[in-house]
Amino acid sequence: MLTTSTLSSRRVLLLGSGGREHALARALAASPSCGALFVAPGNPGIAAVARCVSLSALEPEAVLRFCREAAIDLVVVGPEAPLVAGLADLLNGAGVTALGPSAAAAQIEASKAHTRALCARLGIAMAPGASFDRPAAARAYAEHLGLPVVLKVDGLAAGKGVTVAHDWPHFDAALGDAMVALRFGEAGRRVVVESFVSGDELSLFALCNGTQSVVLGTARDYKHRDAGRRGPLTGGMGAVSPHPRETPALVAALKALFVDPLLAALAAEGRPYRGVLYAGLMLTAEGPRLLEYNVRFGDPECQCLVARWRGDLAAALAAAASGEPLATPTLVGHAVTVVLADPAYPDPPRDALRLDSVDTLSTHPHAALLHAGTRRDPEGGLFSRGGRVLNAVAWGERPAAARALAYETVAATGLTGLYHRRDVGADEGA
Ligand code: GLY
Repeated sequence: MLTTSTLSSRRVLLLGSGGREHALARALAASPSCGALFVAPGNPGIAAVARCVSLSALEPEAVLRFCREAAIDLVVVGPEAPLVAGLADLLNGAGVTALGPSAAAAQIEASKAHTRALCARLGIAMAPGASFDRPAAARAYAEHLGLPVVLKVDGLAAGKGVTVAHDWPHFDAALGDAMVALRFGEAGRRVVVESFVSGDELSLFALCNGTQSVVLGTARDYKHRDAGRRGPLTGGMGAVSPHPRETPALVAALKALFVDPLLAALAAEGRPYRGVLYAGLMLTAEGPRLLEYNVRFGDPECQCLVARWRGDLAAALAAAASGEPLATPTLVGHAVTVVLADPAYPDPPRDALRLDSVDTLSTHPHAALLHAGTRRDPEGGLFSRGGRVLNAVAWGERPAAARALAYETVAATGLTGLYHRRDVGADEGA
């Protein structure tokens, strides 16, 4: 019988177009079990390691059609929105193995109110909070909690739906934006209000096959745009892995507190979780608290995890997607990712910037310059398309070596029009 462990020419489709997907594409292409790699839609950097296909992950029937035409054995879904929309249900139901949870299991990212209720039942520690359908009730509860207070839109908001308010005008503006102006559409019709918890933020990643999970690693994400936790919150301006506070005992404790009970509950409820589980945690003086669950790899944390990964990534992801036993992953050394962003980020870009030096840059063997928000014009020129544009990723046996190499890679681009934080990996907090 042909099993995932014996298949040596697996045909893989990866969905997504960011730096996370560029990192995954490189590791999948290098996997001994991967015979052919397609990425939809991909980006100009991914095009160097895989065949890019013009296909939207939000058109599930078109994805299924492509999988049948191209005889795809494994689909890896990068972002959350297609999973919440039921892409994994459709593909797995049609006999195409897809890594990522069902729409029912993806509710843990799609609805923060749902997750709060689930965690309350399971005794998973979160900050004190509650969900609301009416702005006046949300405001009254926020006053009860006191400042600073956190407002989250219930649904998916592309990483932009969380506000930490230190004064009432800021809270009221965010609440009005979300619930009255519907800045995030239907996602903001319900909100969650939570106490602000301070501490050291840690991203924990686990690979799950429905009943078993293995920890992929930890990371620290640099969410603020500017050094010293200043400026607006972003999708992440950089990351280091492992998290500086990682120890085997901490990882085991966090898995027991935040992964195992969730996995068991989802299986018992008939929505077993297969895919990458990302628990956003705060290590507080009172113990770890869950900030959020995500149903995918983090971006840019994934870039660091992949740099530390040793082994056949395609085989590991296929085992999880097929519900086969999972081997303990091998991650070695330290990795640092520095994001080079459009200067207006997290706002929309004002201009497209030329990125001519990127095509000719040759990086150190332990470093890579990944594409995130780039595009090629019809003449072959490389341009930015806003947001997070490039990622300098570096690996080292020690954190300082990885950090130095990441910043050397940034400098080697010679690009002065892009913005980056200078303190990734340098400080005690993100
Ligand atoms: N880096 C945060 C996220 O991927 O949601």
